[in-house]
Amino acid sequence: MIVKINPNDIPGARLHKLLLGSIAPRPIAFASTIDLAGNPNLAPFSFFNAFGINPTTLIFSPSRRGRDNTTKDTYNNIKEVPEVVINVVNFEMVHQASLASTEYPKGVNEFTKAGFTSLPSETIRPFRVKESPVQFECRVRDVIETSNLGGSANLVICEILMIHINDEILDDNGLPDPAKIKLVGRHGGDFYVKAFGDALFTVEKPVARLGIGIEQLPDSIKYSKILTGNDLGKLGNSENLPSAKDIENISRHPVVKNLLDQLEDNPSRLQQEIPILAKKWIEEGRVQDAFSLLMIGGE
Ligand SMILES: Cc1cc2nc3c(=O)[nH]c(=O)nc-3n(C[C@H](O)[C@H](O)[C@H](O)COP(=O)(O)O)c2cc1C
Repeated sequence: MIVKINPNDIPGARLHKLLLGSIAPRPIAFASTIDLAGNPNLAPFSFFNAFGINPTTLIFSPSRRGRDNTTKDTYNNIKEVPEVVINVVNFEMVHQASLASTEYPKGVNEFTKAGFTSLPSETIRPFRVKESPVQFECRVRDVIETSNLGGSANLVICEILMIHINDEILDDNGLPDPAKIKLVGRHGGDFYVKAFGDALFTVEKPVARLGIGIEQLPDSIKYSKILTGNDLGKLGNSENLPSAKDIENISRHPVVKNLLDQLEDNPSRLQQEIPILAKKWIEEGRVQDAFSLLMIGGE
């Protein structure tokens, strides 16, 4: 059953939770700002992402509080000093970063409260978080207030002026290695996710080739009860249907030949076993072989 919700019909706090649990995982901007008097402030924000490189654009939102429609220190500081260091949050620092989200009164230094080391920036006044593996010094180009109502967003549009990276998290190409940077993301409720270890998997980029598309797959494959949407996605990313030669070659593969010989007199069983084997091969990354296998005796 699908539950339909008109966002105007439910309380704001519930709507907020619904969004947080549905739009996840979200990266976390650990935003360091400063007020005109020079008081530092540090707080995490998961309404955050990167949007472009020309100019580099990061956007995060220190929203208006739903309960009393007050604004947050980060937003107030940015209105006074339009500069921010966005530090990334990894697994080693996530509990401290969460502690820094405590609603301490204005002027309280969350670097001290949450036990972080402040480092001076090179191009702006707010401090960097030494413990964060990547720190972006940014100037604020614009702030878009979506309304003046409680719970509304304040989109802080930032341009990166300088990036500081701890080289221990880099791979051989000088790019962040997920296993080393160990980022975390924010989910709904109290949940976070680890963006490393078993959580990682790869999906081949379709831009490198012009896949034939799922609608071009023969019906026996497209409507198979054994193959999943992900399996079809991988097959549809192939550039061509397997040739007669590919199909002939795969039918000589020892495992396939054995299957064909064994089930020569049982075509309905064969029709089940072929997609089972093909699915296994797809999972092992042998998509082209699987595609050819699926075409044996097919259309
Ligand atoms: C992981 C995490 C993500 C958060 N994301 C947001 C967010 O995107 N927007 C927001 O307004 N508050 C967010 N919060 C809550 C703020 O961090 C919290 O209100 C904080 O006290 C604001 O600090 P400030 O008043 O010093 O700016 C988040 C808290 C945590 C722990």
